[in-house]
Amino acid sequence: MNSMFQATSHNTRPRQRAPAEGSYPFIPYRCEEAINLLEKAAMLFGYRPYSRMYHGRPSFLDIGCGAGNICLLANAVGMHANGLDLDEVMLKHGRKFVTTHNAHLFKANALTYRKYGDYDILYSWRPMADPELWEALQRRLIEEAKLEALIILPWWCEHIWPKDRRVRCVYRSKGWGMGRIYEKVKE
Ligand SMILES: C[S@@+](CC[C@H](N)C(=O)[O-])C[C@H]1O[C@@H](n2cnc3c(N)ncnc32)[C@H](O)[C@@H]1O
Repeated sequence: MNSMFQATSHNTRPRQRAPAEGSYPFIPYRCEEAINLLEKAAMLFGYRPYSRMYHGRPSFLDIGCGAGNICLLANAVGMHANGLDLDEVMLKHGRKFVTTHNAHLFKANALTYRKYGDYDILYSWRPMADPELWEALQRRLIEEAKLEALIILPWWCEHIWPKDRRVRCVYRSKGWGMGRIYEKVKE
C-alpha cells in the first residue's frame, strides 16, 4: 500500500504540484505507523478497531488528505472517515481509492476550514512546509477541536502542544514517526 500511494505521488510530480505557496505536496505517511496511531485512537475513543458495530463509530478527518491513504486506513479500522485537501488532482485520485459510503474526500483550505469541532478524531501530517502556516494550523486545531476530541499528529511543534493546558498527550508511539495523540481537555 505504501508503494501504491507513493506511485500516485510520483505520477503527479509532487514538487511541481504543491497546491499553494507554503504547502507541502502529497507525500504519503507510512501505513505501518499510521495504522498503529489509528488503532490506538479508536481504542482511546472507546471503539474496538475493526468491529462491525455501526453505532459508536468515531468521526475522523484527515487535514490535507491528498489521495486518501489515511482515510482508507481509518475507514478500515471502523471510522467515518473524511478528508480535506486543496489539491483537486489528488482528491480525484483519492476518490478512486476511497469509495465506501463511510468515507468522503472534499476540497477545502485547512487554514480557513471552520468545522474542526464536528469531529471526534482529527489527524494531520504537516500540510504546510511554511513554519508559520503550520504553527497557525496547529493553534487552530487546539482552539477549535471539541472537548474530548483526539488529535493525531505524526509531526508536531514542541513549543505548542506540550505547553498548552487545553490538550494533554494520551499516547506516544515508539515507532518510526514518533507520532503522538493529544486529547482536548478543559483548561
Ligand atoms: C504531507 S501530505 C499528507 C498526506 C496524508 N495526509 C498522509 O498523512 O499521508 C500534505 C497534503 O496537504 C495538502 N495541503 C497542503 N496545504 C493545504 C491546505 N492549506 N489545505 C488543505 N490541504 C493542504 C497537500 O495537497 C497534500 O496532499
